[in-house]
Formats: sequence, structure tokens, C-alpha cells
Amino acid sequence: MALVRVALGARSYDILIEQGALDRAGETLAPYARKGRLVVVTDANVAAMQLPRLHASLRAADVAIAPIILPPGEQTKSWRHLEQLLDALLALEVERGDHIVALGGGVIGDLVGFAASILKRGCHFIQVPTTLLAQVDSSVGGKTAINAKAGKNLIGSFYQPALVLIDPSTLDSLPLRETRAGYAEVVKYGLIDDPAFFAWCDANAAALLAGDPEARTYAITRSVQAKAAIVADDERETSGRRALLNLGHTFGHALEADTGFSDTLLHGEGVAAGMALAFRYSARLGLCPQADADRLTDHLWAVGLPHDLATAHVRANGAELVGHMLHDKKMDAGTLPFLLARGIGQTFLSKDVVLDDVAAFLDADRTTG
Ligand code: NAD
Ligand code: GLY
Repeated sequence: MALVRVALGARSYDILIEQGALDRAGETLAPYARKGRLVVVTDANVAAMQLPRLHASLRAADVAIAPIILPPGEQTKSWRHLEQLLDALLALEVERGDHIVALGGGVIGDLVGFAASILKRGCHFIQVPTTLLAQVDSSVGGKTAINAKAGKNLIGSFYQPALVLIDPSTLDSLPLRETRAGYAEVVKYGLIDDPAFFAWCDANAAALLAGDPEARTYAITRSVQAKAAIVADDERETSGRRALLNLGHTFGHALEADTGFSDTLLHGEGVAAGMALAFRYSARLGLCPQADADRLTDHLWAVGLPHDLATAHVRANGAELVGHMLHDKKMDAGTLPFLLARGIGQTFLSKDVVLDDVAAFLDADRTTG
């Protein structure tokens, strides 16, 4: 079993990564059960595919499950489902000392984390992520949220879990398109500051996406090590270090907005195309070797991820996409910080980006892409 510690003083916690961990979760989670019971929140897809494994291992450890099963999909990160979840937790008489288990992807993790942060002014929660995106990104670091009419993730809190338990084998039931979208967040860590990991991704992405357990476990472990170090350094995204995790997200957010935050473009797919655009824009500014931007574009193409406006199914022009960026929650006193790169593994935060220039770049990139 790999163990990664998120070092945050009194809020420190472990991330445990092991193939088959869900079948041994009874042992791991029994110490967190009070009165012989754990409340497990999940969605209907995960309930069908993975909950029986958790149920069996908890039963073997004499721990009863109180399951709460929510509908799958982004719309579950809403006031309505938050209220439904809080009412269900209160009906189960969850106390401040209890640990709620979030079994699922980023939707369940973000919603349960937020509910835990406000239930009785805060109870504990444990992340058991079941998508690649959640295993390498959203289950670690304590960002919790629901969506508002005005935009995604606009209502939430920083609230760290007590434990993250990752079983790569849960990905066996995840649709390949979802795994691929989560893979964009894996390759992101190489692009930020780890060129050797990018090279590993280039060589091993096919094995990882084909379900090779060693490749999955290695990629997840290396990703959470990177994220844990960044979060320990800048938990609340104040120093700029944690903002590096938003590589590709400003372009990606605009692409997601143009496609209506729908199944046309999954979040990770938007991030993939957004990272390729950030690298090509950096090359156009003369900051990054064109060869590095091309290497990233080729890699994303090879794994089947979107890498430009056309493959992201985006129809809007540059000005319209920049219009979407103006609603980005990272806007700060009229400027939008951008993640740019000096090369693979050399991402940095720039506050000097001229949005009209970005619009012109997007139009030119569509023509030459
Ligand atoms: P998701 O939770 O919607 O899961 C994707 C789909 O896969 C859903 O239909 C789900 O039911 C299904 N699923 C999950 N696990 C499965 C499994 N093992 N087998 C079969 N089906 C399974 O989406 P996601 O991509 O995991 O997360 C996206 C969310 O994460 C977004 O709301 C995003 O805002 C959030 N996010 C949060 C952070 C953070 O730091 N908190 C970071 C990145 C993204
Ligand atoms: N996914 C970005 C962050 O956790 O900060």
C-alpha cells in the first residue's frame, strides 16, 4: 500500500492507495465507525457498481452501512440535493464526531465535503474516490462546493477530509471516456513542474488507459504526492502555488461554457484542450519552445483527448470565448491571472495577459489547427 501524507498541522491526513483497497475497507474504516455504523453517500451508478464491495468488506468487519444514494451527474451539486442530503444525515442522527463516507466521483466528493463542513457546524468525512479525476485531484485538498445559477463551484468551503482511501480497481467499471477525461488531470502534474513524469505519461498512457493496475497505481500515487505537496504549501490558494493546479482551466472553462457544461465536453476534456491552448499561446508569445507545445498536442491527440477548438466541439469565436473567461471566478480586480508555460514542467502564473490578444490567438489557432 502506498501512503501519502497531506501535512496540514492539526488538519493533516493520509491518502492510502492500494489495488483492491475497497475489499479491505472494512479493516481500514472500522476505527471510524461509531455505534457500529458508517453513513455512506454515493450516486446511483456507483451504488450499482462499487457499493456492494464496500458493503461486503464492512459487513465482514461488523460495521453496518447506512447508505444514502443520490442521482448521478453534475446537477446533484445543487442546493436541492444538498438540502436532501443534509435532511437525510440529520434523520440518521449523524453527530459532530461521526465520519461520513463519500463513495464516488468529484460530484459526490464535493457535495459530501460541503455538507460535512456545515452539518452541526462541521462533522468529519472520508473520501473514497471512484473516478480517475477524483482519485488524482478532487478528493485531495479540501475544496468542496455546489454549483449556483451564476456558475460552477461558486458556493463552498475549504474543508479537509479525515482520510482518502483510493482503490484503482474501482476504475474497472468507469466508462473509458471518463477515465480519459481524468487522465488530463494526471498529465497536468507533469506539465506543471515534473518533466520526468510527463515523459512517463507519454510512455505509459496507453497501459494506464487500458487498465494496467501498476500503471494506474503509479500515476495516482505520483499525482497525489504532487497535489499533497502543493496543498500543504498553499492550502487556501493565497500564495499562487495552488493556482498552478488550474493549468488549462481558464481556457477549459471557456470551452465548457460554450458547450453548455454538458456531455459534449467533460470537465477533464476541457482541461486537456485548455492545456494545449495554454502551451500553444505560450509558444506564440515566445515564452515556450514550439516543440514542447507540439509534443503536448501530439500526446493528447494520441490518447484521444481534445486538443483544440474543433476537437473540443467549440463553435464560438475568440471574442466570445474571452467573454466567457470574464465570468471566471479567478477574475481579480479586472485582471484574469493565466497559467502559461516556459516549457514542459515549467508552468507559471502570469497577470500580464491581454485578453484581446488571447481572442486573436484563439481565432488564429482555429485556422491553423
Ligand atoms: P462524476 O462524479 O460526475 O463522475 C462521472 C460519472 O462516472 C458519473 O456518472 C458517476 O456516476 C460515474 N462513476 C463514478 N465512479 C464510477 C465507477 N467506479 N464506475 C462506474 N461509474 C462511475 O465526475 P468526476 O469527473 O469524478 O468529477 C467532476 C466534479 O469534480 C465536478 O463537479 C468538478 O467541479 C469537481 N472537481 C472538484 C475538484 C476539487 O478540488 N474539489 C477538482 C476537480 C474537479
Ligand atoms: N483542482 C484544483 C485545486 O484543488 O486547487
